[in-house]
Amino acid sequence: MSSIKVGIIGGSGLDDPKLLKDAKEKKVKTPFGSPSSPLTVGKINNIDIVILARHGKSHSIYPTGVNFRANIYALKKEGCTHILATTAVGSLREKIRPGDLIFVDQFIDFTRHRPLTFHDEKVIHTPMSEPFCKDLRSLLISSAKALKLRHHTKGTVITIEGPRFSTKAESHMFRSWGADVINMSTVPEVILAREAGICYQTIAMSTDYDCWKEGEDPVTWDMILSIMSKNAENVKKLILKTIPMIKNTDCGCKGGKQ
Ligand code: ADE
Repeated sequence: MSSIKVGIIGGSGLDDPKLLKDAKEKKVKTPFGSPSSPLTVGKINNIDIVILARHGKSHSIYPTGVNFRANIYALKKEGCTHILATTAVGSLREKIRPGDLIFVDQFIDFTRHRPLTFHDEKVIHTPMSEPFCKDLRSLLISSAKALKLRHHTKGTVITIEGPRFSTKAESHMFRSWGADVINMSTVPEVILAREAGICYQTIAMSTDYDCWKEGEDPVTWDMILSIMSKNAENVKKLILKTIPMIKNTDCGCKGGKQ
């Protein structure tokens, strides 16, 4: 069986998971510049792991400033076959409560200022009907069930440019479009992972109701950090349970068939 290496991209509030024993830091360069942070390499259950902090180790990189191409390129260069990407999201649905996990299966791209492809030189139209890895998603669902964590097995994430939050008009519009959760980071990360042939799945943690819901305070950064820090342990447990189950499968992420 061919070996696997799992990249973990840590999002806001989840970028310093003390998950690895004997971790080493590794600085890498890519043709697209430097990634957001040095890579932390080590093992979980004898499986090779590479951790990257999406917004930098001190959370100094704002969403539009994240060098997504350098991040995914660095993980590919390091040999990652799979990526688990954590992210805080706002909930656009009543039933998705703060603290819930969502294993999204679709995205809507509402970004405006980000390079969306590795292929600047030639035109390549990458299939994107199923952007996330269905096999990784199934593993995460079974781990979440076993750990009795509140979770949603699918959902559509809309990624906005940020760094500002949405207006009420936008939040209602996104709901009417069918988006279930909202963040500032899944696009273009998932697109680039697909271009690189890496199995990619988002672990989204709901932190707020954005600003559409009557009777709830509109989202603030402090709100996100507080919910994240209360629930970060759940994400850590989920990752530790799931990693030993990951295998190279015929999911189609590598060859473009889905
Ligand atoms: N990340 C977490 N909550 C969010 C929200 N409401 N909007 C955009 N990004 C978010």
